[in-house]
Amino acid sequence: MTNKEIMELTERVIIPSYKRYPVAIVRGKGHTVWDADGNEYLDFASAFGTSNVGHCHPRVVEAIAHQAEKLLHVCNLYHIEEQARLAEMLVERSFAEQAFFCNSGAEANEAAIKLARKASHDRFGPGRHTIICTEGAFHGRTMATLSATGMDALKEGFAPLLGGFAFAPFNDVGSVEAAIDGTTCAVMVEPIQGVGGVIMPGVDYLRDLKALCEARDLLLIFDEIQTGIGRTGHLFAYEAFGAPPHIMTISKSLGGGLPIGAMLTTSDLAEHLGPGTHASTFGGNSLACTAAIAVLEIIEADQLLLNCRKVGAYFEEALQSLQESHTAVKEIRGLGLMQAVELDRETHPFVMKALERGVIIDSAAKTAFRLLPPLTIGEAEVDRLCRLLDELLTEAEA
Ligand SMILES: Cc1ncc(COP(=O)(O)O)c(C=O)c1O
Repeated sequence: MTNKEIMELTERVIIPSYKRYPVAIVRGKGHTVWDADGNEYLDFASAFGTSNVGHCHPRVVEAIAHQAEKLLHVCNLYHIEEQARLAEMLVERSFAEQAFFCNSGAEANEAAIKLARKASHDRFGPGRHTIICTEGAFHGRTMATLSATGMDALKEGFAPLLGGFAFAPFNDVGSVEAAIDGTTCAVMVEPIQGVGGVIMPGVDYLRDLKALCEARDLLLIFDEIQTGIGRTGHLFAYEAFGAPPHIMTISKSLGGGLPIGAMLTTSDLAEHLGPGTHASTFGGNSLACTAAIAVLEIIEADQLLLNCRKVGAYFEEALQSLQESHTAVKEIRGLGLMQAVELDRETHPFVMKALERGVIIDSAAKTAFRLLPPLTIGEAEVDRLCRLLDELLTEAEA
């Protein structure tokens, strides 16, 4: 099928909840994707940051193919080798001791919300259920995670949302402290706000939040769905800020392109989710876990954290020189290969022009580009993107 045919069919039979770009991506390899008409694109968005190891990494493909011949799925009434092996790899590489698997970011956050409430209920009795979240945060589109999201526009028309969520400005520990009352059980933040436009935490913010939570017997939940799996040059962003949380959620790049999410925590908290308290039919599915094991192995074997830090630093410098030569660029923000360029105008027209010229970039918030390339990119790809941004900004400023 051609781009046009796929677009027409989509418009006819798919519920229009996504605003889509006018291309159909049909093939991917590393940091390159191709559309149905054969046009090639350099991918600086990684499908919302889900292809950290690149598209169709050969070792992910091989692992999936091998597993597909053996077993695709079995339910969680049985022990599942791939699930246990993946959990072991995750806990060996993080603060956590146990994992719960599910299929998406929102579902991982649902598990975190349920664990925070259940642990508080078991330890302190009923009534302590409020989770303090931050303005500008994005935690997902299910009813609970939408309720935890700090973007009012996304909530319009969906009332009543779930109760038990309070909000404080991001990067302001004092406001979180002021929001704590007798009903509070946890604080939930993204270490770096992603969808909100790559908003960086102050150096001490996450550490201070952890100290506050410890002092007030609250649980600290980090949503690392976008920042995790190497995106910032650390396997998890909390490592960069020296602040391990009590509960962490991951998803997106974990499956190397297959849907999987996880909630990680310590054993003393995990025991509050005993048999029958939480479940997901496909959670910890053999195929998805096999892909995730391959992803973690690739990150280490290919030294992608190192590449992310090295190329990330080069990228940041290149973006800063772009800022020096263009008045339309107001700010550069980010860490590793999670970068944003804040403009004095809307970014959508630039995203469309970049697409026409063979580069995929993404907008986060209306006036920022969010740049999340696969962690496999090198300086040559950064140079190509920055040359294109330079061209587009020059044309717009003329
Ligand atoms: C920080 C964060 N949390 C949660 C989600 C929701 O993940 P999903 O779309 O897999 O439900 C996203 C998705 O963009 C995200 O960036």
